Amino acid sequence: MNEHDMSLFWHLWVVVLTLGNIAGIYWLIRWTSKRRPGEVAEGAEMEHVWDGDLRDYNNPLPRWWLWMFYGTIVFALGYLTLFPGLGRFEGWLGWTQENQWEREVQRAEAQYGPIYANYAKQDVAALAANPEAVKTGRRLFLNYCASCHGSDARGARGFPNLTDGEWQWGGEPDTIKQTVLHGRQAIMPVRGLTGTLTDAEVDEVVHHVLSLSGRDADAGKAAAGQALFMAQCMACHGPEGKGNPMLGAPDLTNDIWLYGGGVEDIRKTISQGRQGLMPNFSDFLGEERVHLLAAYVYSLSQH
Ligand code: HEC
Ligand code: HEC
Repeated sequence: MNEHDMSLFWHLWVVVLTLGNIAGIYWLIRWTSKRRPGEVAEGAEMEHVWDGDLRDYNNPLPRWWLWMFYGTIVFALGYLTLFPGLGRFEGWLGWTQENQWEREVQRAEAQYGPIYANYAKQDVAALAANPEAVKTGRRLFLNYCASCHGSDARGARGFPNLTDGEWQWGGEPDTIKQTVLHGRQAIMPVRGLTGTLTDAEVDEVVHHVLSLSGRDADAGKAAAGQALFMAQCMACHGPEGKGNPMLGAPDLTNDIWLYGGGVEDIRKTISQGRQGLMPNFSDFLGEERVHLLAAYVYSLSQH
């Protein structure tokens, strides 16, 4: 919460509660460390015996322990004077989460800015052959991309493997950079181009798709499915199912699957459609970082 948004009531509420607590703790320490009339002598045994043999002795708190308590009180008051904590009071140091963040960003900019600017002058393929650049790119990848593509960039269901040399949108260095800069939205329609395939027809097309990558398929259904494929799928996946990088339509013949290559996976893809989204990073990371990331990703497929 921003301290300026706090109403006067809540401001006072926090101040009274915080300072009252500290005062209360101080009082409690004083009170418990005072000897009272009628108490047994220091070090003597008290009346209660617990569990048959556990006895209480009236020993005072050790000095150092007591001073530690006082120390925490002094620390708390010092902290609340310097840093925000007491309602709207901003603290003498003027520290905020925002300005700490900004300072860290500026420090990182000053350190890495010139390095990125220098890399940005070289082309992506050249950078991919430069171990230092690849190392820096990998660090960015772990921060910004690994959550979806995995720290080894091998992906998971719905998130493509970036190391296998197979590309939905194209694997040229500058194409990869465009993918990361502007993002990609894949549109695989529900039940074919016209959206009209019946369950039986979907089943036939599934068997044709299985046969395209050499998987076990029912020959009769696959043959019927081929005609349907030409009418309903060819526009995007091509007559032989080799795909089209302009549309992000994957090659269906290489037995590499984004959504799984089992009968039920493929049936689901065709009957429900798929809309994979690669977010765009141009605003968030800026072109120089994306340039370096593209080099890193490109390097992964250059074995
Ligand atoms: C409008 C273009 C378009 C049409 C028409 C189309 N597809 Fe697709 N298809 C795509 C795109 C784009 C993807 C990638 C989806 C994604 O990445 O989320 C895709 C993905 C797939 C996949 C998933 C592959 C994998 O790796 O998991 C299969 C299978 C598939 N299509 C089969 C078909 C079949 C069969 C038809 C015809 C019934 C068809 N598609 C029609 C564009 C199309
Ligand atoms: C929120 C999840 C997410 C994050 C974060 C993300 N990606 Fe992606 N990325 C995807 C998805 C999903 C696709 C597949 C889109 C589709 O179905 O066509 C994709 C596709 C790609 C492709 C295209 C692969 C191909 O076969 O053409 C590249 C390259 C890529 N991502 C690189 C990156 C890089 C570099 C980063 C970090 C800056 C990144 N991605 C961050 C989800 C993500």
